[in-house]
Amino acid sequence: QRPLRRLLSCPGTVAADLRREEQSSGNAETGSEDRTPKKRFSELQNERREQAQRTVLIHCPNKINEKKFLKFLSQHGPINTHFFYESFGLYAVVEFCQKESVTSLQNITRTPSLGPEAAIPFKSRYFNLKLRNSVNQTSELSSIQCSNQSSPSSKKLYQLLCCAESVDDQLNTLLREFQLTEENTRLRYLTCSLIEDVAAAYFPDCAVRPFGSSVNSFGKLGCDLDMFLDLDEIGKFTAQKTSGNFLMEFQVKNVPSERVATQKILSVIGECLDQFGPGCVGVQRILNARCPLVRFSHQASGFQCDLTANNRIALKSSELLYMYGALDSRVRALVFSVRCWARAHSLTSSIPGAWITNFSLTMMVIFFLQRRSPPILPTLDYLKTLAELLLKEFFEYFGNFAFNKNSINIRQGREQNKPESSPLHIQNPFETSLNISKNVSQSQLQKFVDLARESAWILHQEGKDRPSPSSNQPWGLAALLLPSVTNNVPLSKKKKKPASERIKNLLDSIKSSGAENSIATNGR
Ligand code: GTP
Ligand code: MG
Repeated sequence: QRPLRRLLSCPGTVAADLRREEQSSGNAETGSEDRTPKKRFSELQNERREQAQRTVLIHCPNKINEKKFLKFLSQHGPINTHFFYESFGLYAVVEFCQKESVTSLQNITRTPSLGPEAAIPFKSRYFNLKLRNSVNQTSELSSIQCSNQSSPSSKKLYQLLCCAESVDDQLNTLLREFQLTEENTRLRYLTCSLIEDVAAAYFPDCAVRPFGSSVNSFGKLGCDLDMFLDLDEIGKFTAQKTSGNFLMEFQVKNVPSERVATQKILSVIGECLDQFGPGCVGVQRILNARCPLVRFSHQASGFQCDLTANNRIALKSSELLYMYGALDSRVRALVFSVRCWARAHSLTSSIPGAWITNFSLTMMVIFFLQRRSPPILPTLDYLKTLAELLLKEFFEYFGNFAFNKNSINIRQGREQNKPESSPLHIQNPFETSLNISKNVSQSQLQKFVDLARESAWILHQEGKDRPSPSSNQPWGLAALLLPSVTNNVPLSKKKKKPASERIKNLLDSIKSSGAENSIATNGR
C-alpha cells in the first residue's frame, strides 16, 4: 500500500486524508457510513477469500422451509451467515464458521444418476438440494426473503430521482441503488472461489482473485466479474532457504515468453471449465487478445466472468481506484452518475468496440478531481460542500478539454502533450508508455464531448426553473439520464435555443461568474 501512496498526485493532502480515513470512516466497499476502521485493500481481499472458502452454494427447491434447511446444514457445523436469492430458481449461499463443515457436507453428498445420461463426477461446493418428501415440508412453509442481485429498473430509478430534494441527493440515491450489496459482493468472491477449486486441480496453490469493478468500489449491480488466476504463490521463491553447496530446482517446461505461458495455462483452464465446471456455460477462450482471457457465464450466480492470468497490474489499478473511492463516498457518487449517464446515452457498451470504457471514464473523473480549482480530491469537508457542483463541473471540464493535443496523466495529475495521435489519450498510470483508451474513435470522443456540453447546460439551468414536484417532469440527474440527447434531440423540454448558442451562453456565464467566485472556475 505504501508505494501506491506515492503514486497519488498530491501526496501531502491525499496521504493525510487516507491516514485519517484509515483511523475511522465509512465503508467504501459497501458504501455504508459507519465508524469501523477501514481495512487495507489486501487485508480485505484475503478476509473475503477465506470467508468464501467456508461458503457453499446450494440450488434449492422452490418451496423450502428455511428453519429445517438450516437445521439440516448445521449438522455439519455452525453456520455464520446465509442468504437466499433468485436466478432461474432459488439459491442459498451458506457460510459455515469452519472449513471442515464443507468437507463434512461433501462427504454425505452423492453424485446424481441421471438415467440414460452420464454425470462427470466432480466434488465441488455447488450443490443441488432435493426434498425426499415434499408434502411434509410444504405444510410448514414460511415465505423466504430473497436478496436482490440486480439494479433497479429505469422507471423506478427515474421515480426515485425525481422525488429527491437536490442534485446532491440524486447522486447519493443513484449510488445507493446501484452499488454492490454485501450479498452480491459475497457471491462474487464465492464464484471466484468455486473457479479456484477447478484451477487448483492443476495448480494446487493457486488463487483466483476478483479485480476491476467488483472490488474497486465502483461496481454496479450487474457488472461483469473480472478475475485473475494468481500463480505467484507457486512460482515465487517461497521455498525455505538451505545452506551448503547444493541447490534444488523443479523441472519445468520452458516456453518462449510469459505471454505464451499465460495462453497455455488459460487454454487448459478454459477447456476444464467448459468440460467439467459445474454451472460454467458459454466458455470462450480469447487467447490472442492483448490480455488473453477466458470468458464464460456462471449460470448459478448470473455473472458474466472474464478470467485472466498474470494480471497483477490490474489488481494494483483496482487498489488505486479503491483508495480514491475511499476518500469520500461522494467520489463514488460522482463516478456512478457519470457511468450511468454514459450508459444511458450509449457512450459505453457491454460489447467491446470503439467506445469509452467505464475504466477510462473513472480515470477521467479522478483526473478531473485532481485538476479542478481548488485542486484535486480536496479535504473531505470541502468535498461535501461541493458534491452538487462537481457533476456540472465535470461536464464543463471535459466539454472544454483540449483532447486534440492533451493527454490525461493521472500519475502526475496534469495534462501533457499527447505522445501519439489516438483521439483520446489516458496514460496507464502503471505502464506509462500505454494508452488505456487507445480503442476510442474520434466520433465516439466527439459524442462524449457533445453530451458533456449539453449535460453541463442542463445542470446549469438547475435551480433557475426547476419544475414543481407535481409536474412529474424529469430534472437534474433524471433529465441527464434520459436516453434522448443524441442526434440533436433535446435532452429536456426546457431547451429552446440551438445547442451552439446555449453552450456559448453557458461558457460566457461561467467566465463572468468565475471572476466573482473561484469555486465556479475549473482547474484549467
Ligand atoms: P465494468 O465496466 O463495471 O466492468 O468496469 P471495470 O473497471 O471492471 O472494467 P473492465 O471489466 O473493462 O476491466 C476490468 C479491469 O481491467 C479494470 O478495472 C482495469 O483495472 C483493467 N483494465 C481494463 N481496461 C484496461 C486497459 O485498457 N488498460 C489497463 N492497463 N487496464 C485495463
Ligand atoms: Mg469489469
